[in-house]
Amino acid sequence: MSILVTGGAGYIGSHTVVELLKEGKEVVIIDNFSNSNPQTLEKIKEITNKDFKFYEIDYLNKEKLKKVFEENKIDAVINFAGYKAVGESVKEPIKYYINNISGALVLLETMKEFGVKKFVFSSSATVYGNPEKVPLTEDSKVGGTTNPYGTTKFFIERILEDIYKSYNTWDICILRYFNPVGAHESGLIGEEPKGVPNNLMPYIVRVASGILNELSIFGNDYDTKDGTGVRDYIHVVDLAKGHIKALEKLDKEQKGLFIYNLGTGTGYSVLEMVKAFEKSTGKKVKYKIAPRRAGDIAICYADPRKAKQELGWEAKKTLEDMCRDSWNFINKKC
Ligand code: UD1
Repeated sequence: MSILVTGGAGYIGSHTVVELLKEGKEVVIIDNFSNSNPQTLEKIKEITNKDFKFYEIDYLNKEKLKKVFEENKIDAVINFAGYKAVGESVKEPIKYYINNISGALVLLETMKEFGVKKFVFSSSATVYGNPEKVPLTEDSKVGGTTNPYGTTKFFIERILEDIYKSYNTWDICILRYFNPVGAHESGLIGEEPKGVPNNLMPYIVRVASGILNELSIFGNDYDTKDGTGVRDYIHVVDLAKGHIKALEKLDKEQKGLFIYNLGTGTGYSVLEMVKAFEKSTGKKVKYKIAPRRAGDIAICYADPRKAKQELGWEAKKTLEDMCRDSWNFINKKC
């Protein structure tokens, strides 16, 4: 029995495949390389010394997707495929709704046809919108998303709830990621955004390495400890391990829809991130204070206790690990 991983060559997907292979699971990856690199697949093999099946297909292509299900005995699906650039989603909402939502629907329909009923969905803390209070628990209000990317995550969560209610023989796990950063300790796989990065950590590492000139800190007048935005940064390897625990839960449970925050429970400000990065790498990060970025919120961090209690999962890696591994990855690449 295999685990089908859509978007398995991507940032979080590739780290999860590494953990799955380490656990001795059989893995089938599909990816269309729209925001990933074929070399990542070779790196996964190098890290794990294990092999997997791979199909270069788009998950919107039902005929090709069906072939994957015909040729493999799929036990569960982890869905990482999807576009994730917030700014682009504002400019091209239709592209985002088609790819993320129609793609998920094609996948779910194919699963139904083949009687595959275990599904792990890669969601985001973005579904909470602007939090009424922190830390965020899983039953905090969702909705109020500030961009089409976030709305696709929210809509897919709703679709999964309906699927569960109507068929109730499915086992579904929705994982709400906070801010994934870091890279595999080997430095072989990590985050490779195309073009100028939007997210903080990829930007910091590029300033430190001289690829970009200086970091713009978007706002220092938020109601936070030092005025800059506060987020719950989580090491991607910790995040990947959360998926293993989610699959274990689905294997054990008889029918259910479960939602978990995957975060550390600690919020760090942008300035704290810059300082932590400088301290753990010895590199200077030039920055300036810039106006707030549209759609940004002041504070967002998780209450991760539910995942600890029910999955036996908690984030173990430190901020230093996150900074060091992000830096190590970009250095190996350059
Ligand atoms: C964003 C998305 C979220 C997505 C996540 C992926 C929004 C509202 N949220 O989260 O949906 O899942 O990326 O990781 O867009 N910052 C700077 N300068 C920069 C970049 C960022 O000061 O050049 C600041 C931001 O203002 C924010 C913090 O760093 O306070 C983190 O930003 P970022 O890494 O982009 O993540 P989020 O905005 O939290």
